[in-house]
Amino acid sequence: MKKRLEQLKENALLKIKSADNLSALQEVRVAYLGKKGELTALLKGMKDVSPEERPIIGQFVNETREALEDLFETAKAQLRLAELKVQLEEEVIDVSLPAKKQKTGHRHPNTIALEEVERIFIGMGYEIVEGPEVEYDYYNFEALNIPADHPAKDEQDTFYINEKVLLRTQTSPVQVRIMEGAKPPIRILAPGRVFRSDEVDATHSPSFHQIEGLVIDKNITFADLKGTLATFAKELFGADTKVKFRPHHFPFTEPSAEVDVTCFKCGGKGCRFCKNSGWIEILGCGMVHPKVLEMSGIDPEEYSGFAFGVGLERIALLKYEIDDMRLLYENDERFLRQF
Ligand code: DAH
Repeated sequence: MKKRLEQLKENALLKIKSADNLSALQEVRVAYLGKKGELTALLKGMKDVSPEERPIIGQFVNETREALEDLFETAKAQLRLAELKVQLEEEVIDVSLPAKKQKTGHRHPNTIALEEVERIFIGMGYEIVEGPEVEYDYYNFEALNIPADHPAKDEQDTFYINEKVLLRTQTSPVQVRIMEGAKPPIRILAPGRVFRSDEVDATHSPSFHQIEGLVIDKNITFADLKGTLATFAKELFGADTKVKFRPHHFPFTEPSAEVDVTCFKCGGKGCRFCKNSGWIEILGCGMVHPKVLEMSGIDPEEYSGFAFGVGLERIALLKYEIDDMRLLYENDERFLRQF
C-alpha cells in the first residue's frame, strides 16, 4: 500500500510538471485528488489493510494528499504568474508612438452668418423664437393676407402634406403664431428652414433658410424700420454701408419695400460683384398690414409694427463671397475648411 502511494505521488509529480497551463493542471488535479481520482480509489483498498497497520497507512495517505495539494498550489501559482507575464507582454502600449490627430470641426458658414445676425438683433433687444417647418396653410398664407386664389401662392409653390398642411415657404408664419400668443410689445427674430418647389441652381434650392423679424408696439413707424435695418446693415457689412428702400409689394405688409445695401466690395462705385449697380439686394420688409394684425387678434388702431425677412444663404454668400449656393449644402470639407 505504502509503495503504491509513493508510486502515485511520483506519477502525479511528473504530470504536474508537464502541465503547461492552468486548465491542464486542473485536469491533473481532478485525476488524482478528485472524487473519482486515483487517491480516492487507493483509499478503497484500506479495507484490506490489517487493523494494526491502518493508522500508519491512514496517516501516510493524509500526508500524501497534503503533499500533493501543496504541489498543485505551487504549480498553480507559477502558471498564473507565467500567464500574467505573457498577457502583460502582449498588451504592452508603446507610448512613444505619435498620437492619432483629433480632427475638430467648426461651424458651417450658414451658422456663422446666422449667429452674426442673431448677435446684432439680440443687441437691439430682440428675442430669438422658432416655429414649425411643417405648417398649416392658414399660417403660411391665409393669415398673412394671401387667400386661396392669390397669385402669391403660385410664386411660392411648395410641398403639400395634405390640403391644409404644407412645408412652410417662408418664416413669416412665425409672426402670426407669435402675435396670436403674445401681447405687444413684441420684438422677435425667427430664423428657420423654409421650402419651395424650386429646381436647384446657383441661386435656388428647394430648401433654404430665412430670418424673420417682427416688431409690434404703440407708435411704431416706417422710420423705426429704416433705422433698424440701417443699423443692421452697418453692423453686418461695415460702418460705411448705406441702405436703399425700393417700393415693392408683399401681401402682408403695407407699404412694402425691398432693401439694397451699398456694395461692400466697391463701396457703391460699381463692380463685377454688384453687377455694376453699386447696390446689392438683401431683404424684404414693410409695415405689418392692418388686416394681418387684426386676424392675429391685435388691434390695428392701437398698435402698429414692421416686419422683415432676410435670406440666410444670401447673407452667407455675400459675406463670404461664395458664388454658388450649392457649395453650402455639399459638405465638401475642402470648401468648409475655409471658414
Ligand atoms: N416672406 C417674404 C419672402 O419669403 C420675405 C418678407 C418680406 C418677410 C416682407 C417679411 C416682410 O416679414 O415684411 O419673400
